[in-house]
Amino acid sequence: MESIVDLFIGNIIHCDQPFTVTVIQKGFVAVQRNKIIAVGHSSELQNRFTSENVRKTLLSDSQILIPGLIDTHIHACQYPNIGVGMNKPLLQWLKDHTYPLEKKFKDAQFSKRCYDAVVKKTLSYGTTTAAYFGSIYTDSTLILADSAIRLGQRALVGKVNLTKNGPADYIETSEESLRETRRFINEMSKKNSELVKPIITPRFAVSVTKEDLKALGEMAKEFNLPIQTHLCENLDEIELVKLEFHKDYPLVYDEAALLTDKTILAHCVYVKDVDVKLLRDRGSAVAHCPNSNLNIRSGICDVKAIINGGVKVGLGTDVAGGCSCSVINAMRYAITSSAVLSFTNKNYEPVNYCDAFYLATLGGAKALALSDKIGSFHVDKDFDALIVDMDPNEGPADYLQECAPLELLQKFVYVGDDRNVISVYVAGKKVK
Ligand code: GUN
Ligand code: FE
Repeated sequence: MESIVDLFIGNIIHCDQPFTVTVIQKGFVAVQRNKIIAVGHSSELQNRFTSENVRKTLLSDSQILIPGLIDTHIHACQYPNIGVGMNKPLLQWLKDHTYPLEKKFKDAQFSKRCYDAVVKKTLSYGTTTAAYFGSIYTDSTLILADSAIRLGQRALVGKVNLTKNGPADYIETSEESLRETRRFINEMSKKNSELVKPIITPRFAVSVTKEDLKALGEMAKEFNLPIQTHLCENLDEIELVKLEFHKDYPLVYDEAALLTDKTILAHCVYVKDVDVKLLRDRGSAVAHCPNSNLNIRSGICDVKAIINGGVKVGLGTDVAGGCSCSVINAMRYAITSSAVLSFTNKNYEPVNYCDAFYLATLGGAKALALSDKIGSFHVDKDFDALIVDMDPNEGPADYLQECAPLELLQKFVYVGDDRNVISVYVAGKKVK
């Protein structure tokens, strides 16, 4: 028997192309198992999908169907620290708040409790895909992968490498770090998950040696894996990189073959034109983390310059530098921090809500090298989607007048939260 076709009928909004928002009024998306099999106007439905194996979901006038949100940078093990330790600059913040918390993930029970909570919370905000940093502990990071698999979230999961400049009780030897990374990759492959995959995760340049970076670049190539790390986040960090490696920060990664077309670089607040060109040439992507950049006072990233330089960009919550694990919040901060830059530059065209929506969906998919699978409603892509309702019971904003679909999207970007995310689907499966 043919498997059931799910028909979602109503106002559909997505980005088919970079920075272009498409609205299909009274449209439909047809889904079979995990995949989108047709997209169009509901008028085209008359002679299609007439068999009994069709299940219809009709959206109301206050609802829109949008692609799932993509968090291109989040530290799952920092979730308990959300909202504490703010106002300190990066290196002090790591030492005082972050490393002491991450150390607790040696405990499997604590790991499971925290990781289940993070995955549930991010799913509730509509994050259908997340690029997660775990801790330095392999077994704990495997528990994070298990949480994502069990709760149905798509994810890239990384065991962090930290062999230098860490506290004495939260650090690895180089030998251990590389051996454990191999073990992590091997254990992940045994899970055989379609949705949850490993990612090579050197914490940042100064947390590992030149040799470690080179070995990790080789490992990424050997197993054809994506890579995530931090780049040019904070001025003191950049100074430290210069002191230890005697070269520009992006070149430290480039010389270790870590800048690939499957590399995600978080922050990039202080990249220069020549760096942007290098990232574009390598096909590497930037995870823009505007909330974290403000909280720990790293600076304001001119993300428009990076976008206009031809680099792939997605949004990251960067919990717990970021104090919310909601990508909706990340969209808002992308808009606000860009607006601030426009005040001192008359010709500056800041990020608007449509741009932010692109960055949170198709932009994020491209940044994670997953745009052949997710990011928009395209036939043959997986169905990762949200039903958003701007008039839920006890919602964050009173819905006193009817809104056009694009106004609903704008409202969602500016005032939306988990109460507005009515349903979440990952690979065709309802997970909220
Ligand atoms: N650089 C190195 N480690 C971290 C981290 O945990 N968070 C942020 N924001 N930057 C980092
Ligand atoms: Fe980070």
